[in-house]
Amino acid sequence: MPLVTTTEMFKKAYEGGYAIGAFNVNNMEIVQGITRAAKKLNAPVILQCSAGARKYASHDYLVAMVKAAAEETGLPIALHLDHGPDFETCKSCIDGGFTSVMIDGSSLPYEENVALTKKVVDYAHAHGCVVEGELGTLAGVEDDVQVDAEAASYTRPSEVFDFVSRTGVDSLAIAIGTSHGAYKFKPGQKPQLRFDILEEVGQKLPGFPIVLHGASSVNQEHIKMINKYGGEMPDAIGIPEEMLRKAASMAVCKINVDSDIRIAMTAAIRKHFSENPAHFDPRQYLTPARELIEEVVAHKIDVVFGAAGHAND
Ligand code: G3H
Ligand code: 13P
Ligand code: ZN
Repeated sequence: MPLVTTTEMFKKAYEGGYAIGAFNVNNMEIVQGITRAAKKLNAPVILQCSAGARKYASHDYLVAMVKAAAEETGLPIALHLDHGPDFETCKSCIDGGFTSVMIDGSSLPYEENVALTKKVVDYAHAHGCVVEGELGTLAGVEDDVQVDAEAASYTRPSEVFDFVSRTGVDSLAIAIGTSHGAYKFKPGQKPQLRFDILEEVGQKLPGFPIVLHGASSVNQEHIKMINKYGGEMPDAIGIPEEMLRKAASMAVCKINVDSDIRIAMTAAIRKHFSENPAHFDPRQYLTPARELIEEVVAHKIDVVFGAAGHAND
């Protein structure tokens, strides 16, 4: 099956009260781990590449691998640029086979974010591609964020209608307390998300797909595995699964996960080398890594996001 945009996926996800998993890919084993899980569960899926992934693996390899996965599985798969930093990167992905791009103008002043996002949308829509914009910056990135500063980074529901109507974006990433990476909350801190903001955004934009970044749950067993086999990861707290499930039942149609895959891959490889110190064939240690990625992704798609069985809705 050829790559698809996210338009139909999001429409069905919104109506069905579930979310599509958007997983970051950097190499073949990650692509295969994710798409094997999606295939097993007959689920639509988004594979996304950051600018860093394009630098690491190269654009052409990533596109070819994702297209191969779509052909092999027959699933609806969208190929998305994650955190597009500028117009040129978005254009290069649109011209080069991606079906969706994010333009991340969230750190810009509001009017500059509107202008840049609209420029990307105009180009993307003329070329059959959809666009994700972002309003608000994810909280918790700085270690010593003051409450006021943190509050200021949440998405302002009063801005979302103006932003969406003036830019023409197809989906909107919002900041409600999730953050990128493994360390989302301080040790002892109770994880909390601003569901009141999500609720209000949903009311301002009925039927419109919302995106949640920084949504890894951080599997404690995998952190323990990393540390048991020689790693030194400090305590890490992610987004509780029940909160993601709740977001998926609301206006959130796309949930981004990268760190959980990184942690699973590292845990499996560390364990493998600890038990098989003499191994030097990459296939030997990448096989358990790919299998653990598949397990993690299957759990997300099925139990957390509720997207299992929805490939042919
Ligand atoms: O949100 C960012 C993603 O986790 C991608 O990270 O830029 O290190 O590839 P990266
Ligand atoms: P995590 O770091 O929580 O996996 O978030 C990934 C993400 O938002 C990619 O855009
Ligand atoms: Zn992100």
